Amino acid sequence: MKVLFLSLYVCLAISLNHVAQAHHAVTMAADEPEGHSHSKVGDQHDVKLDRCEGIEFDAITPDEKGNTFFFKGDHLWKGFSGPAELLNTTFQELYDYHHLGHVDAAFRIHHQDDPKAHDHIFFFLDDKVFSYYNYTLEKGYPVKIQQEFPGVPSHLNAAVECPNGECITDSVLFFKGNEVYNFDIKTKSVKKKVWSHLPNCTSAFRWLEHYYCFHGHHFTRFHPVSGEVTGTYPKDARKYFMRCGEGFGHGAGFRKLRCSETKLNAITTDDKGRSYAFIDSNYMRLDTHRDGSHPFPIARSWKEIAGGVDAVFSYGDNMYIIQGDQIYIYKSAAHYTLIEGYPKPLKEELGIEGPVDAAFLCANQHIVHIIQGQKMYDIDLAATPRAVKQERFIPFPEVDAGLCDADGVKVFIGSEYYVYKSPMILALSKIRPQPHKISPDKFGCEE
Ligand SMILES: *[C@@H]1O[C@H](CO)[C@@H](O)[C@H](O)[C@H]1NC(C)=O
Ligand SMILES: *[C@@H]1O[C@H](CO)[C@@H](O)[C@H](O)[C@H]1NC(C)=O
Ligand SMILES: *[C@@H]1O[C@H](CO)[C@@H](O)[C@H](O)[C@H]1NC(C)=O
Repeated sequence: MKVLFLSLYVCLAISLNHVAQAHHAVTMAADEPEGHSHSKVGDQHDVKLDRCEGIEFDAITPDEKGNTFFFKGDHLWKGFSGPAELLNTTFQELYDYHHLGHVDAAFRIHHQDDPKAHDHIFFFLDDKVFSYYNYTLEKGYPVKIQQEFPGVPSHLNAAVECPNGECITDSVLFFKGNEVYNFDIKTKSVKKKVWSHLPNCTSAFRWLEHYYCFHGHHFTRFHPVSGEVTGTYPKDARKYFMRCGEGFGHGAGFRKLRCSETKLNAITTDDKGRSYAFIDSNYMRLDTHRDGSHPFPIARSWKEIAGGVDAVFSYGDNMYIIQGDQIYIYKSAAHYTLIEGYPKPLKEELGIEGPVDAAFLCANQHIVHIIQGQKMYDIDLAATPRAVKQERFIPFPEVDAGLCDADGVKVFIGSEYYVYKSPMILALSKIRPQPHKISPDKFGCEE
């Protein structure tokens, strides 16, 4: 079931980014991807590479705008579809230094403590590192890798950033053979590990908090701290990270999430600023859409939840998930961990019978507002035992989801939402305000 969801939805990913149109039918050079990681196509400029033929990429990285670049020899691809271009169309100096060889590794640094470096792209060629921002080489580069990243070897195979929250600190994972160098950006300390269960990565890519090791034209998803691989891997990259048409799954599976057909089950933002929309048995991060948006199965982040949810709200560093007449409470850290003793009956935890339609809590408040049909119930989470303190009618027969943020209270119904200054105004209002539409810029859906 999980696998089915992934393959169905990963195709949605392709709606991302500023995807170039493929105008030409491109033909493939005689270049067997498997087992030729250092094959060079560099010096024949007329050679057109077709990534749908199966390419072992040298490096993959997003840029500061969220475009993804794939590299092979002196070529690159921008986004998840479109033809190969010469490196010099975008990164002139990498092309000029091409005598060094191909790009070995690349990543977009995540280092918010240092705004001068944050979001820059680092490229590794042999023993040199190049730093780019806005497609412009930074002054003073290239430098020796060890000057910028002491303890990291030359002639790398792959690199990927790992921000605080996903790794213990803002880090970079460098790959060489089956060795992994975990580089702490702040302290510049390096820890070496051997992940021999993982294939030797020739490129590595972080996409929407997920970590992928590419090898041949396949990829394997791994945990950035433990290296653990869960699920069925390797998978063929052409079925997921590029649009290769019939025969590669997209013919059957390609489906766009349309804004006008979107219907949320729940929406919340946790204390770490992570925003989530829940739709059927999937969730989507809403605050990272620079790099694209993509539904993942809920069970991938909240292991114990099967199927869809009815309402979700965040209180302190806990996330409360309501499903039918049960409530789950998760501790939110880098990962969500179910608190012992849960799920519990909703009645026992909040003093209300399920199922419910929506739930939300405003910043610095202890009162959760739970919507069930036309009624909104206020429950004080700081009181024991918890019980309904107040019960009011709202001007809607049925809602899908609710959220309270800096704009006020948002009530979602189908592909629209209504904004009110406060829960009280929602309950008192006689006239419905103009609805807002669920839009691509906030929800990553397609018009
Ligand atoms: C890139 O290099 C090719 C071949 O060396 C050249 O024909 C082309 O004009 C260059 N493009 C740019 C944008 O510099
Ligand atoms: C990015 O580079 C372009 C031209 O190379 C320049 O016009 C633009 O101002 C630069 N943007 C930033 C944010 O530096
Ligand atoms: C992976 O890299 C190690 C060196 O770190 C090498 O011994 C091994 O043969 C490589 N495995 C494959 C399948 O290439």
